[in-house]
Amino acid sequence: MLSHLPNLGVGLGFRELFKSELFLNRQPVDFLEIVAEHYLDAPAAKQQELELLAAHFPLIPHAINLSLGSAEGLDRDYLSKLAALIKQLNPPWWSEHLCFTKAGGIDIGHLSPLPYTQEAVEVVCRNIAEVRRWIDVPLILENISYLVALPGAEMTEAQFLAEVAERADCGLLLDVTNLYTNAVNHSYDVQQFLQQLPLERVVQLHFVGGHWHDGVLIDSHSHSTPAEIWQLMDDVVAKFPVKGMVLERDENLPAFAELVAELQQARHIARSHGKWV
Ligand SMILES: [Fe+2]
Repeated sequence: MLSHLPNLGVGLGFRELFKSELFLNRQPVDFLEIVAEHYLDAPAAKQQELELLAAHFPLIPHAINLSLGSAEGLDRDYLSKLAALIKQLNPPWWSEHLCFTKAGGIDIGHLSPLPYTQEAVEVVCRNIAEVRRWIDVPLILENISYLVALPGAEMTEAQFLAEVAERADCGLLLDVTNLYTNAVNHSYDVQQFLQQLPLERVVQLHFVGGHWHDGVLIDSHSHSTPAEIWQLMDDVVAKFPVKGMVLERDENLPAFAELVAELQQARHIARSHGKWV
């Protein structure tokens, strides 16, 4: 099923701050990723913005607060709104993180890691089965960055991602910056991680740069992509059937030309591996 998804190419996480520059420089941007939460219960101006974006770019909805790892199940009210947005856009795929953001009725406001256990796999698969009753567009799951690794792991992070993706029949959104950041902060081997992922399920990538704080690498989406992450992207694109790559810059936004230069570098990597030519 995933092999039939279209090649979208090189995309940008849409941010309102660069909207005018984006429309003056549409050509280097093949598609946009939009944060789903910005358009749920949206005022008329946001709804119009969404229609404008959809008229000019393929849009991929990226959800943040579905909380697929919540043991108590999903928030049906939120899910129905998300389903309506995805139905409106009818994208080739949509994405959410493999994490939890809500527990015991409390919204944590943070992408929090799950324990890498069989029980957590079952919780996520049960929630994804519920999602499927509302949304029939293919879902791809993103690896998050985390500062605390929960105790009691029965498998590695990569095995956890692989197990959920296989059992729930989902694709993967491999955030190479999150992967690199976790590998640095938790001292694990990136290549070993990649070997444990199901090759055919990696549909999309995220990339951006972070910053160092007190000896810890922070995934702050605030800097240009560093050489180590470009190298990792090159390795990943060589191995996996990637159909789209998204620059996910949020903070410290540079001149739009700098974002375009990063998109061009990503495109160059894809082409050097015979993708999308
Ligand atoms: Fe990401």
